[in-house]
Amino acid sequence: MKRVIFDTDIGIDDAMALLFLHYAPTVQIEAITTVSGNASIANTTRNALYVCERFGIDVPVYRGASGPIGQALGSGHPDFVHGANGLGNIEFADPTKTAELKGAAEAIVELAEAHPGEISVVAVGRLSNLAKALSLNPRLPELLKEVVVMGGVFMRRNHGGNVSPVAEANMAGDPSAADRVLGCGLPVTVVGLDVTQETTMDEQFIDTLQANAGDAGRFIHDITRFYFDFYAGVDGVRACPIHDSSAVAYWLAPHLYTVEEGPVRVIAEGIAMGQTILGLTPDRYESDAWLDRPACKVCIDVDADAVKALYLETLALAGQ
Ligand code: BDR
Ligand code: CA
Repeated sequence: MKRVIFDTDIGIDDAMALLFLHYAPTVQIEAITTVSGNASIANTTRNALYVCERFGIDVPVYRGASGPIGQALGSGHPDFVHGANGLGNIEFADPTKTAELKGAAEAIVELAEAHPGEISVVAVGRLSNLAKALSLNPRLPELLKEVVVMGGVFMRRNHGGNVSPVAEANMAGDPSAADRVLGCGLPVTVVGLDVTQETTMDEQFIDTLQANAGDAGRFIHDITRFYFDFYAGVDGVRACPIHDSSAVAYWLAPHLYTVEEGPVRVIAEGIAMGQTILGLTPDRYESDAWLDRPACKVCIDVDADAVKALYLETLALAGQ
């Protein structure tokens, strides 16, 4: 079994990614840690509890950071993308399941200490919880198996930022935390817009889920109405990137991605706040902020059809 902590600002694509992990046959979700982002920490935690309860995901939910550890680009939450409640404004009663008393960063540290080298983190929101966990235990890089981050953009194939010309939302929402995590020596893979925007879903994809994935398909259909309305307004078509499930797909099937390796910096201030820059020639310059930083893997290409097939095939297990 592959063991994972799912660190999430659970909005629409995060919920799809959680279901991907839940129905993947070889995965054991150890914990869900929430962070502010797509919605407030109160709503992202409520959403995590609701999805767990509705789909029988019997794992502890730990409430995490309510804001960034440093400066951020913008404030508030993207209710125009994910709805005010973060789940496309579908209505649901408050879940009876409650969050644990322990905080997210503490939970990450405790799980990593209890099972050294065994647990991965798939982080699909701002990296505030992981940065705090690193402060609690600087040995975390030796204790976690792997970290896969959805975030960033490296300007491949004309892909630019989604919250500024150069910045992606998860990085821009807490760039200091991201710079810290990507530079701490953890085995990190960054799954950014360069590949998530190449992996798109449309109404036909949702129809297939509705037909094959039981209640999970119905839920995904319902929460994506708002999401598709937003993307249709921006791009003129009812289709959108598969962001957070791409991080899960990489974690499950890394052979579907092409990566480059090198140190990554996240710009923490100024007009380029949140920009992620891969230093491929860090020993070339006299003064170099990339020098002596550990390498990350950065996804630069993807077999998008195979990723989508993996998602559909996995979710079909929900319909059986
Ligand atoms: C990322 O930002 C959030 O809105 C999404 O859930 C995803 O994690 C995309 O930039
Ligand atoms: Ca997310």
